Amino acid sequence: MARANTSYTCTECGAVHSKWSGQCDACGAWNSITEETPLSAAAGTQSLGASRGRTITLTDLSAREAPLPRTQSGLAELDRVLGGGLVPASAILVGGDPGIGKSTLLLQAAAHFAARGLKTFYISGEEAAAQVRMRADRLGLSDAPVQLAAETVLRDILTTLDAERPDLVIVDSIQTMWSDSVGSAPGSVSQVRAAAHELTAFAKRRGSAVILVGHVTKDGQIAGPRVVEHMVDTVLYFEGERGHQFRILRAVKNRFGPADEIGVFEMTGRGLSEVANPSALFLSDRGTPAPGSAVFAGIEGTRPVLVEIQALVAPTPQSQPRRSVVGWDGGRLAMILAVLEARCGIPFTGLDVYLNVAGGLKIGAPAADLAVAAALLSAREDTALPAECVVFGEISLSGALRPVGQAENRLKEAAKLGFSSAIAPAGGKPGGESGLKVTRMTDLTAFVGEIFGAG
Ligand code: TYD
Ligand code: MG
Repeated sequence: MARANTSYTCTECGAVHSKWSGQCDACGAWNSITEETPLSAAAGTQSLGASRGRTITLTDLSAREAPLPRTQSGLAELDRVLGGGLVPASAILVGGDPGIGKSTLLLQAAAHFAARGLKTFYISGEEAAAQVRMRADRLGLSDAPVQLAAETVLRDILTTLDAERPDLVIVDSIQTMWSDSVGSAPGSVSQVRAAAHELTAFAKRRGSAVILVGHVTKDGQIAGPRVVEHMVDTVLYFEGERGHQFRILRAVKNRFGPADEIGVFEMTGRGLSEVANPSALFLSDRGTPAPGSAVFAGIEGTRPVLVEIQALVAPTPQSQPRRSVVGWDGGRLAMILAVLEARCGIPFTGLDVYLNVAGGLKIGAPAADLAVAAALLSAREDTALPAECVVFGEISLSGALRPVGQAENRLKEAAKLGFSSAIAPAGGKPGGESGLKVTRMTDLTAFVGEIFGAG
């Protein structure tokens, strides 16, 4: 009976199970469930017992609030993802794979915010102060007025923060923080939660902004950033392919701004530099158009971005042809292939299909359907699409093309980058002002007929 209080928690998603198992039912992660003793086992205590709390003050919704006093870092890509700047008394989580550049980004951010007059602390639980200083040196930030500490004991950190009252605290990383009120090892779900909870509470209590770094973990030894996502105001993920120098900072949750906003950076020998015009970056060299390539006019957050979608279709000796996707959803690819076969009579059986979004960007919007179909068909028919042409539109299971939002912005961006024509779904708002020659189609069969001559 001594084990009655023990629960089994997934280190990836935080789901609680009654017994241990090899795979978490909630998120599907393998070998991520660990045994945890709960924070407090004081069962039976009731809030309305002998000692009552104080009554809280309620206000109505119409009460006028001053606009949030945001501080801008001057790094436009970061400020936009934050929703227009850093909000005091907010907690921000920055997650990402190890080595992707989180510490680099946050050290640069710290220097920028400090230069704007914020009292900024950088607490490193992973690297010694000398290592952080070396990185600062490499980034040319040695003179920035950032206060540095290498510490993991949460009690000491909070005591210092309470006394010093900084405007911005960066904690790198939350998985290294150790709270002595929790019995388990640093990096366990309860430690990470307790540390995130205390630091978030500090942010709210003292009006400081707190940025927590969280490593995305693959092996389940330490808790991933997902277990603290619900505690913080803003969740940003720093992503990118290791082999590419491009890094994308993506807001997945933001209580103070639009979610789904992205900021684009490039990793250079002297840290991260901003990429103000991501379209130019995601389009590979635009020479003569090659078969299997289509340019998708997309929207990322509030900004139009043009991306090249590349496909390769090749006969296979295998009975199970390969379907390999980078930067897009594999299930969605299967759907497009099925629609092409069922509605347009173009089978991909016996053919390997490789699909790649250039530049390491991940796109999720169904607006890319038509561009994917165009790239696939172009690869299969070995025919290049018209030069200087962008494509967008959603494909429904019936093969009909559905209009997508912000067509005008997509066309404008394409015109700005020197494209001369576009293929878009019929319906939606007419895009007259962009100067592009827009071909509007109602279904995929018409598209195939128009571009590839009757398929
Ligand atoms: P880092 O910020 O330590 O990653 P994280 O904190 O997410 O684990 O970045 C590590 C990588 O970045 C490392 O492989 C080296 C590279 N890097 C550069 O290319 N240029 C630079 O100026 C710096 C500081 C790092
Ligand atoms: Mg780091």
